[in-house]
Amino acid sequence: MTGDPLRGTTGHRLTAGLTVGSRVVVRYRLEEGSEAAATDFLGELVARNDDFLVVDTKTERVKLVRADVIAAKDVPPPASRPGRAHERISADDLEKLMAKGWQPLERGGLGDWVLRASEGFTGRANSALVVGDPSLPLDKAIDFVEGWYAERGRPAIFQVHGQPGFTVADDPTAAALLDRGYTAGGGNAEWERVHVMTALSAALPPLTEQSAPVTADAELKLDWLMTYGEQRTIVPGVTEAVLTGSDGQLFLSVREPQSQRITALARMAIHPGWAGIFGLWVHPEHRHEGLGSTIVSAVAMVARENNMPAVYLQVSADNTTGTAFWESLGFAVHHDYAYLARPAS
Ligand SMILES: CC(C)(COP(=O)(O)OP(=O)(O)OC[C@H]1O[C@@H](n2cnc3c(N)ncnc32)[C@H](O)[C@@H]1OP(=O)(O)O)[C@@H](O)C(=O)NCCC(=O)NCCS
Repeated sequence: MTGDPLRGTTGHRLTAGLTVGSRVVVRYRLEEGSEAAATDFLGELVARNDDFLVVDTKTERVKLVRADVIAAKDVPPPASRPGRAHERISADDLEKLMAKGWQPLERGGLGDWVLRASEGFTGRANSALVVGDPSLPLDKAIDFVEGWYAERGRPAIFQVHGQPGFTVADDPTAAALLDRGYTAGGGNAEWERVHVMTALSAALPPLTEQSAPVTADAELKLDWLMTYGEQRTIVPGVTEAVLTGSDGQLFLSVREPQSQRITALARMAIHPGWAGIFGLWVHPEHRHEGLGSTIVSAVAMVARENNMPAVYLQVSADNTTGTAFWESLGFAVHHDYAYLARPAS
């Protein structure tokens, strides 16, 4: 009902910040005469309009009146195996979470698969994320994805994941793609295998008195973008949209004291319970001075202070320096993924 006098209640305010597609917990007032005054619903928020929330719990889909919400928040994906906060998430759930940390310009879906297009800026934002069930037989699903990208004048690229060190051909989707002439990496060594590494924010090295000062901006500033563009091809308009497209992100930088020139930078993505590190880069003249570690320590500090016990990042297995750097800080491989593409693309 539009013009509902209840709109603008505490319940509306509390539920405004929930993320559709995220796992949420909602404390809900029950009708008078019920055994209890309130109950909790835990599940995926699948829709929200002015008056209602729709939550898929483990057992049922519930439609909740927003005005009757007493408390609500986004929560991390469930534990799927034993371990600490950065270990117990499934690879599928971590992939879905990380996809929200790097939002494409255009996003489509095929069952659980996520189709992403961003005019070629980065593999992550221009590939089909193969997670769960595509809702079609595999060959038809692949045809559909190829058609979706062809309509956009882009090559189809599939992101397929597995255990650390998995054999790509053992994955059924990858095997079907290999049969069609796709290869792991599609001719790009950086795409052949990517490590997803995780750590506990509390276990990462703290900032010290000797650490260079780190700036964290919620806004993307021009000099940050220009410095980011020194190390990769940026697509005007698209790069800014992807960098700023998540529900929460911070742009970190270290500057030279005199010139204020940026010597190190990274983007931090913010999720319920998780922080993501993207694009960490140190100016070649300033490597091995501890700036990379300083930025990671700053991310860890923000994460700890904001209830994010776990941190993730993605690094190409081809980048042995990068991988050694993350390992030296205590990150370990959670799972691997590969991009499957036709070599010409
Ligand atoms: C990876 C990178 C960010 C490291 O930054 P940095 O400021 O040089 O790193 P630090 O000085 O903080 O080094 C911290 C530790 O990481 C490890 N490390 C750093 N560079 C390394 C290298 N080339 N080989 C092996 N280990 C290395 C060392 O253990 C080092 O400690 P130490 O200096 O006491 O030996 C930097 O080399 C870089 O910008 N590379 C290009 C972009 C990139 O690969 N980013 C990461 C991928 S996501």
